[in-house]
Amino acid sequence: MSKKIIIDCDPGQDDAVALFLAMSSPDELEILGITTVAGNVPLNLTQRNARIICDIANYKNAKVFSGCSRPILVDLVTAENVHGNTGIDGIDIFEPETTLRKMHAVDFIIETLSEAEANSITLVPTGPLTNIALAIIKDPSILKAVKQIVLMGGAMREAGNLGASAEFNMRVDPHAARVVFECGIPIIVMSLDVTHKVLTSRERVNEIESIGNSVSSATANMLKFFARYDSEKYGIDGAPLHDPCTIAWLLKEDLFSGKECNVRIETDSSLTLGHTSVDFWGVEGNTPNAIWIEDIDDVGFYNLLIDRLKRFD
Ligand code: BDR
Ligand code: CA
Repeated sequence: MSKKIIIDCDPGQDDAVALFLAMSSPDELEILGITTVAGNVPLNLTQRNARIICDIANYKNAKVFSGCSRPILVDLVTAENVHGNTGIDGIDIFEPETTLRKMHAVDFIIETLSEAEANSITLVPTGPLTNIALAIIKDPSILKAVKQIVLMGGAMREAGNLGASAEFNMRVDPHAARVVFECGIPIIVMSLDVTHKVLTSRERVNEIESIGNSVSSATANMLKFFARYDSEKYGIDGAPLHDPCTIAWLLKEDLFSGKECNVRIETDSSLTLGHTSVDFWGVEGNTPNAIWIEDIDDVGFYNLLIDRLKRFD
């Protein structure tokens, strides 16, 4: 039976690849909706980018929603330095045919979860957690329908990528992240600790490009642009392919390994705002609320991605 998911994203080249990976796998994943949030670029661009990605994949069932245009309490920080001014630099931008649904993303999440069976839906956030947190605040009863939350965010062994100790999605809306990490639903965390192990090397991007369909070409072109910033910053061949780790986990969990632990989000300190405090060794004695993914079979991950991109032929 396919897993029912809602993808909450801020495309973003790596969000875009996560969407492609999910759309390539209809037997395993039923995408109930794609909700968008301000993050890598402002909301008017993330919602448009999600629809462009649906058009490129010729994904006719897409239900795309626009959500929150800013974090709950702090000012929005965007990442054009990483993703380019459009958020998905590397491909040509066009006005997509996929329409934007009228309903607000938060209301779509609430309505969908309210009508669903208990424990039946997986939330997959790959951007700041504003939409998810506001849905929880507006109607906490929706949580009974949530089986798990598989999200990209946080850092423990790897240093921060927005500030010294915080990862981008957590730092952009730390208060939303705190609401989500305290909501009581099991969270599978794809932090920088694991995403920095799946680099978009030139060889891998060339292999993706050689598939030769429109989705693989778009993926390769976006990843070439995306690698530019991180390869210079970290002195590595390629960039960490963050967001697709969430979908890959849903498709092939055995590629990953991790540990149950308690994770809390820093919301008070201006120095470490958005930091994920991971009690990896259980020294604080709090009940685990997350599985902190530590390791990945990176070869298996790229084999999966490449196989699935071939399905768009
Ligand atoms: C996360 O931040 C964004 O720039 C990426 O899309 C990813 O979700 C990585 O820190
Ligand atoms: Ca993202």
